[in-house]
Amino acid sequence: MKPVILDVDTGLDDACALLLAARHPDLELKAVTCVGGNVGLDEVVINTLTVLEAAGRPDVPVARGAALPLLQPVRAAPHVHGTDGLGDLDWPRSARTPDARHAVELLRDVLLEAVRSGEKVTLIPLAPMTNIALLLRTYPDAAAGLREIVFMGGAAGIGNATASAEFNIWTDPEAAAIVLSAAGDLGVPVTMYGLDVFYDVEISLEEARALEGSTSASLARALIEKRSQLYRAKAASIGDGGAVCAVIDPAGLTTQAFPLRVELSGNWSRGRTIVDTRDWSGDLTSDPHGAAPTVVQVATAVDGRRYADLWLRTVK
Ligand code: BDR
Ligand code: CA
Repeated sequence: MKPVILDVDTGLDDACALLLAARHPDLELKAVTCVGGNVGLDEVVINTLTVLEAAGRPDVPVARGAALPLLQPVRAAPHVHGTDGLGDLDWPRSARTPDARHAVELLRDVLLEAVRSGEKVTLIPLAPMTNIALLLRTYPDAAAGLREIVFMGGAAGIGNATASAEFNIWTDPEAAAIVLSAAGDLGVPVTMYGLDVFYDVEISLEEARALEGSTSASLARALIEKRSQLYRAKAASIGDGGAVCAVIDPAGLTTQAFPLRVELSGNWSRGRTIVDTRDWSGDLTSDPHGAAPTVVQVATAVDGRRYADLWLRTVK
């Protein structure tokens, strides 16, 4: 089993990711940490506990993390996730209380244990990377417990929060920049599962309506139906869930190594991930503006059918 941690801002598609990570037999879900993003932190925590309960995994530790990005206010996305972040489904809410530790402390504890045991953990950030930046700045030694980081965020092409920037990176660009540079310095491999593939793992309404027989299946069906309704479409992508598929089944994802930077200024481009796809890399060694960019595996294509099937057979 592959040990993983999810960092989430649950969120309809974070919920799709949580159901998959909590139920797939190849993954050992060690912890889930929460951050403000799609909705406020209180809702994120309740939604996360609720989804884990529906997945039959009330045993997984869940911790509260940062409510706000490092430098700017949080800007929620009720038009994409509903006012409660779970599509206002009226799904019965979990009464479980989260772990007493702050998210950064839970991350530290799990990762230092991984260092001791030698069983490194894959970190899957599916939200603004505030918690991860705080972790790597506060407890850099914990990075030795990381096998890799596979994050949902960014885009080589167009954005969604703005024409330039993807929501998770746009919400906390400084955090993303810190995580990328720290990962580069500490030698942690990084994969960017960005908007270039994010929409390509789709579940049709027909497939969703065939999901039945368990609480997890009913929630999975409701999530896809709600996402389809919000996008006024006959199918919906599992969004963040695709990044978890990529950890379970890396062969379904095509990636290429590119230097990656985060735009921290700019009138219309703040939060953009600048993927340097040039076939020469002169500025890797002579960047006049400071440190060299981190080279990241950028997802360029996904086998959407393969990942959709993986999700459907796991969540039902
Ligand atoms: C990302 O932003 C959020 O709306 C989703 O949960 C996903 O993590 C997509 O840009
Ligand atoms: Ca998310």
